[in-house]
Amino acid sequence: MVLVLGIETSCDDTAAAVVRRLDGGACDVLSNEVWTEHADHRPYGGIVPEIAARSHVERIDAVIARAMAAAGVGFADLDAIAATAGPGLVGGVMVGLTAGKALALAHGKSLIPVNHLEGHALSVRMTERAAFPYLLLLISGGHTQLIRVDGVGRYQRLGTTIDDAAGEAFDKTAKLLGLAQPGGPAVEQAARKGRPYRFDFPAPLARRAGCDFSLAGLKTAVRLAAEAIPAPTPQDVADLAASFQSALAAHIAARTGRAMTALEEDFGAERQLVVAGGVAANEALRGALSALADERGWRLLVPPAKYCADNGAMIAWAGAERIAAGSAPAIGAALSFAPRARWPLAPPPTGRAHGGGRKGPKA
Ligand code: KG4
Ligand code: ZN
Repeated sequence: MVLVLGIETSCDDTAAAVVRRLDGGACDVLSNEVWTEHADHRPYGGIVPEIAARSHVERIDAVIARAMAAAGVGFADLDAIAATAGPGLVGGVMVGLTAGKALALAHGKSLIPVNHLEGHALSVRMTERAAFPYLLLLISGGHTQLIRVDGVGRYQRLGTTIDDAAGEAFDKTAKLLGLAQPGGPAVEQAARKGRPYRFDFPAPLARRAGCDFSLAGLKTAVRLAAEAIPAPTPQDVADLAASFQSALAAHIAARTGRAMTALEEDFGAERQLVVAGGVAANEALRGALSALADERGWRLLVPPAKYCADNGAMIAWAGAERIAAGSAPAIGAALSFAPRARWPLAPPPTGRAHGGGRKGPKA
């Protein structure tokens, strides 16, 4: 049994949690505190890295103290402290990682620097008996990737976005349509009253082999359609939101379907698709993925929303999984680990270099 404090500060949430991993692999989340900064960034229509870093500095001590108090444990009880060490907005990553290092040093605990993407990749195992291997669709504000997960520390990237991340596309579309930030929930809300068939947005990369994604063209198509309407009514906005959302969901499902085809033989009878990241909350997307999984005979697993969006529990859990797998660093070893703005979880498939293009804050 291991008890781990997890710290997450890579984007706009200051989060800490205490998680216990039992020897059989079961998970108890003893506390999961998240202090979200949405209100700090709302006036700017997007996340401002410097404001995020300052907010983390102001909140981190209180959030960690709350997580420890809610769990009813002391630092002496912990086996390790896990902190997100990247990828992300580096000013924020620095805050959480430094807090983790200071606590580890002060209390003589080992520090586990966690890749934020590994947190998302393993989070499903907190609530489900998801045995390896599985296909992970990681879909958040900074990432849109398909990853084959074979074990703790064993990842293979099958596809990624060549331009915008899905959450970024939602956020930018919301801004364009005059909706609130974060854009995903706002676009989803507007889309409820909209007609998804009104605008026929293009299916990106339809003729391109592989499992990469592209969302920049869709965003531009929405902009052009919106600009063609002189004075958009709320119904126009709803129709644009619904048409955008359904085109995005269809694209994500189509590319995920390709990855499933590539893995079906290897996976045999145990075929599992796991969806993680903030955009996994989107019901239209879940509907498209659930239809895909049903059609192909795959099991679809989506962690509860509080573990899909950024949180400290998934970071603590990744640390605990590393300890259980015997791959956690020794006490003192990780104190010199530097925060990383970029830190791919797995290299791209051999022989393929990804194009440039604008990437999300965590790409
Ligand atoms: O995983 P997350 O909390 O943070 C990152 O690691 O990026 O994801 C945040 C992203 C934001 O872009 C937000 O707009 C999007 O997830 N999001 C959604 C929904 N809820 C959050 N996108 C679409 N539909 C939603 N219901
Ligand atoms: Zn995330």
